[in-house]
Amino acid sequence: MTATQQGDIIPTDRKRLHVITWGCQMNVYDSLRMADVLAPLGYTPVAEPDGADMVILNTCHIRDKAAEKVFSELGRLRRLKDARAALGQRMVLAVAGCVAQAEGAEILARAPYVDIVLGPQTYHRLPEMVARAARAGGAIIETDFPPEDKFDHLPDQTAPQGVTAFLTIQEGCDKFCSFCVVPYTRGAEQSRPAAAILAEARRLVAQGTREITLLGQNVNAWHGEAPDGKTWGLGRLLRALAEMPGLLRLRYATSHPRDMDDDLIHAHRDVPALMPFLHLPIQSGSDRILGAMNRKHSAADYLTLVERLRAARPDLALSSDFIVGHPGETEADFDATLALVRAVGFAQAYSFKYSPRPGTPAAGAPSQVPEADKDRRLQALQALLREQQARFNSACVGLALPVLFTGLGRHPGQIAGRSPFLQPVHVSADAALVGQQQLVTISAALPNSLAGVIDPASTQRERLSA
Ligand code: SAH
Ligand code: SF4
Ligand code: F3S
Repeated sequence: MTATQQGDIIPTDRKRLHVITWGCQMNVYDSLRMADVLAPLGYTPVAEPDGADMVILNTCHIRDKAAEKVFSELGRLRRLKDARAALGQRMVLAVAGCVAQAEGAEILARAPYVDIVLGPQTYHRLPEMVARAARAGGAIIETDFPPEDKFDHLPDQTAPQGVTAFLTIQEGCDKFCSFCVVPYTRGAEQSRPAAAILAEARRLVAQGTREITLLGQNVNAWHGEAPDGKTWGLGRLLRALAEMPGLLRLRYATSHPRDMDDDLIHAHRDVPALMPFLHLPIQSGSDRILGAMNRKHSAADYLTLVERLRAARPDLALSSDFIVGHPGETEADFDATLALVRAVGFAQAYSFKYSPRPGTPAAGAPSQVPEADKDRRLQALQALLREQQARFNSACVGLALPVLFTGLGRHPGQIAGRSPFLQPVHVSADAALVGQQQLVTISAALPNSLAGVIDPASTQRERLSA
């Protein structure tokens, strides 16, 4: 046995696997599944790359500098790989994810010490790639979209994710927004069958998971074969998952406004386990820019949808994504975005400067917005969004909110969890409560989190039911 820097005890016949993950939640899920695929080969995850037998960089291509970040990290890893080689040991270096898919052989041209380049649809083939890499004979590139479905070839055995877990139900995107690389890096929209999703959810719950976030690049476009022979939509799937004993909370991300159907809206009314928080990207409040973005919805469509969702679930908190400075965006277009934000009132939101992505239609558009305008607009938008987030958090003070505790807090004696609205909540309480949901009276609001005290009636109930 040997100990890593983090103190993990790894039997010496085991191999060490270090995975670095960038990008969206789907990449986080993919990294976990790559570790699952490699586990039968003896690979055990470790927290540091030093001394690792294999390092995987799971990359994101959504905005620029992503590829540069990959190459600078590769430079650092090369030194570790060389140091290991000097000791007669090997470090297999793999680049996975969306940069791997987009850049392919370019990665090997710039970093010939990389052993494996694999796209997001091929990670079920990792064991075979590792075996080929071990036999040496040059680097391996797997960036095809293989005919077989990777999910059919992944092991059922999954390492426990903890109190909250991600479960990918849908991949790829057919929407082709003008600015976005996802349809190219992740391929066409594909849904997993309901039975496979339910089985994976059952395994997660058996391992102690109490909250599942269903994932997809366009998660609400999910439509899967169901055990009853019908095709279900996401609303129906959420209803089925809500019946699973032990599963307290459900969420899903990320949704496209065009795919919010009636049944899904009604699920927000009918399914108490479905948390009252929805990430629903709009990108811009200007119809002219939404048109140029190929979003296929208007600002008014979005506002009507928000109204219908709030009618179904009055306490629903909303989040969104915004891009400022898409080609052609004028001050008037940007003002329309600010007006939309004011009209909706977001609990939180993400905003980005438009970043031209090679191969996407907007990258070649003539009317690129100067960087200085993008900067100024981003600051103005973020100031407004911060103000709304602060107002939303302050409005929670004095409320008793159910909090699912997920781990220890930053300070001794503190534990941390999430409110229904996804806010981090810190309380001083016994670590034994991790994994449980308790009512917490919110006592203070910070910019990005809440603090509170456990409602004594809640612990009383807990004791009575224990
Ligand atoms: N499928 C989701 C989000 C995908 S990417 C959707 O349709 O909304 C996550 C976010 O990154 C996007 O919502 C968008 O706001 C941002 N993004 C994507 N491409 C971008 C680009 N080229 N420049 C800046 N932001 C971008
Ligand atoms: Fe990208 Fe648009 Fe697809 Fe979202 S819907 S992943 S922004 S192309
Ligand atoms: Fe990035 Fe690929 Fe996700 S580009 S945001 S990792 S789908």
